[in-house]
Amino acid sequence: MLCIGHRGAMGHAPENTIASIQKALELGADCIEVDVYIVEGHLMVFHDQRLERTTNGSGFIWDHTFDYLRTLDAGNGEQIPTLTEACQTIQNRAGLNVELKGPGTAVPVVEFITAQVKQGWSKKLFLVSSFDHQALVKVKRLDPDLQIGVLTREPLQEGSRFATHLGAYAIHPAAKKIDRQWVDEAYAQGLKIFAYTVNHPQQIHRMKALGVEGLFTNFPERVVAERREKNN
Ligand code: G3P
Ligand code: MG
Repeated sequence: MLCIGHRGAMGHAPENTIASIQKALELGADCIEVDVYIVEGHLMVFHDQRLERTTNGSGFIWDHTFDYLRTLDAGNGEQIPTLTEACQTIQNRAGLNVELKGPGTAVPVVEFITAQVKQGWSKKLFLVSSFDHQALVKVKRLDPDLQIGVLTREPLQEGSRFATHLGAYAIHPAAKKIDRQWVDEAYAQGLKIFAYTVNHPQQIHRMKALGVEGLFTNFPERVVAERREKNN
């Protein structure tokens, strides 16, 4: 079971910060998920549209300058990181799942990954995902080899069919909503299933029993422990 650190390791450190990414790496995550917006040409690692919940700023992220956003405290004195900083933190120690959040992120993210690959990163370490399926279509057109994860809140058969049609690498359903039938259908379409967000040991166990191949978790050590104990 692939262990994907959700917003780093947000159960232990402020989400989507360098500290959170470092913690996820320490705890043994195989891949780190971060959310990304674009602000004045800079890819920034951030989840919400608004700043209030996770920083000492206010308003929409896109209404501010990059310089101003960098002055904010994203928790425990951490800055809002750039995607470049996130990548530099990970190096090649884990994969990086970039979730496209804001509008206009598809093109710069593909350009960013292309640049990283030129610098020696394996393209296979990247996974681009989004709930915005049109953005994923754009990513796939720009780089057909890039691994895509189709995020879906309501795991319907249509979602799996769309993911297969797109040539996606994986489908990312809400863990709470999936059952054996949906899992079997997704596998029959040839997709990998990475489910979000699974934190409770019992839920982790249930996902494993369903044969889910990867889990997004705020507590990477719990997925690692389940995997180790059960020799999986
Ligand atoms: O990518 C999995 C998960 O992060 C999707 O939901 O809201 O946490 O970005 P959210
Ligand atoms: Mg996310």
